[in-house]
Amino acid sequence: MGELGRWCSRENESPVLPGRRPAGYNAAVDDDTDERFDVKFHAAGHGTIGRPASVAVMSPVIVILTALGIGCHRATSPPPRSVAAETALPATFSVQPRPADDSLTGRELYLNHCGPCHGADGGGRGEGARSLFPRPHNFRSSKFRLVSTVNGVPSRADLGAVLVRGVPGASMPSFRPFAEATRGRLIDEVLRLRREGLQAALAFKLGDAHQEDEIATEELREILDLQLTPGAPVAVPKWGPATEALVRRGGEIYIQQQCARCHGPDGRGDTGLYLANEEGYPTRPRNLVWEEFKGGTDPPSIFVRIRLGLPGTPMVANPNLSEQELAALVHHVRSLAREPKWPLTNYQRAKLVLDRGFLSPGHPE
Ligand code: HEC
Ligand code: HEC
Repeated sequence: MGELGRWCSRENESPVLPGRRPAGYNAAVDDDTDERFDVKFHAAGHGTIGRPASVAVMSPVIVILTALGIGCHRATSPPPRSVAAETALPATFSVQPRPADDSLTGRELYLNHCGPCHGADGGGRGEGARSLFPRPHNFRSSKFRLVSTVNGVPSRADLGAVLVRGVPGASMPSFRPFAEATRGRLIDEVLRLRREGLQAALAFKLGDAHQEDEIATEELREILDLQLTPGAPVAVPKWGPATEALVRRGGEIYIQQQCARCHGPDGRGDTGLYLANEEGYPTRPRNLVWEEFKGGTDPPSIFVRIRLGLPGTPMVANPNLSEQELAALVHHVRSLAREPKWPLTNYQRAKLVLDRGFLSPGHPE
């Protein structure tokens, strides 16, 4: 049994794991009931570098994850089937198909398929949110991570790609089976919620500044349009094969650009840095060897991620690199990747943020 398997059997025995808290760090917990189980990091004057929370804070999360069966899965045999019960069904019995998704409005589709995680208002606080790591995206006020435009505003194509791909390495499922028109209506709703969130924030700010109750709607609309209009897509060069020279050149740029500071010289991300994203939640550099990429593993997607970063996370943009340098970096990053990818549960992802050594040593390489 590998380290993962051993850990899984431990978790099944007891949902509360002993934790390791680096000396000198304090847990900061939000006390309001709604956010009772959140682990919050507060940047301690180091920009995005925050403080880890205590594992004690995590235990309610573990309990919930275990209750929801989100943690490690134990193989279970299917319940015994009762022949008598089956034959007792009336001859006319048939399962009524649920109304086709295509007949629903974007709002209804959203409430059915997205609201439980992203929240009815798009604020990222659906019922399931507190059990998930990373947390569902807040469409109202957070920056979108998986963007491809020069101003970082997601295009419809960006959102469409996420709906088809899902977010590997997070709980965001793929909605590939939906008709394209259905996904289109979901995108409309996400964009509507984003606009609504920005408008509320802006009205609040402007109202405060001008000491006025009413702000000219026209003025507000103009500002919103400006903030919500996607810029031009980042140009991606034509893609050639990875040569040894390119991979080596990419390796040099990887060091020069300080990628190794976060992702480590070997890409495993075990650099012991404690990072937080803009919302204050703890995060860590991607393990470029064993973890999946959220925005796709094809060269153009990695190119765009490195060029623009993942807005709102410590993964910064690299606007100063030439197309050739970026392409070499992509070849290098791809050369680090190994299969099979880690299939991590929400709890394991949270645990990895607190304990960087977790999983790595025993993982079959
Ligand atoms: C099981 C929970 C869950 C469900 C259901 C779900 N999401 Fe997500 N979603 C997530 C998580 C978790 C993330 C990733 C957050 C991260 O990586 O920071 C995410 C990310 C996203 C993003 C990426 C935003 C970005 O940063 O670029 C979009 C867009 C999105 N979801 C839309 C939807 C839509 C539309 C639906 C319904 C059709 C939906 N999600 C259903 C959990 C969920
Ligand atoms: C300050 C720390 C930091 C630096 C420096 C940094 N990264 Fe990252 N990187 C991160 C974090 C954190 C994430 C994960 C963000 C998330 O998913 O929320 C990430 C994610 C990634 C991803 C995954 C993208 C995806 O689709 O999931 C790639 C690839 C990557 N980084 C490459 C690089 C390269 C190449 C460099 C150097 C040019 C670099 N990073 C520099 C912190 C950093």
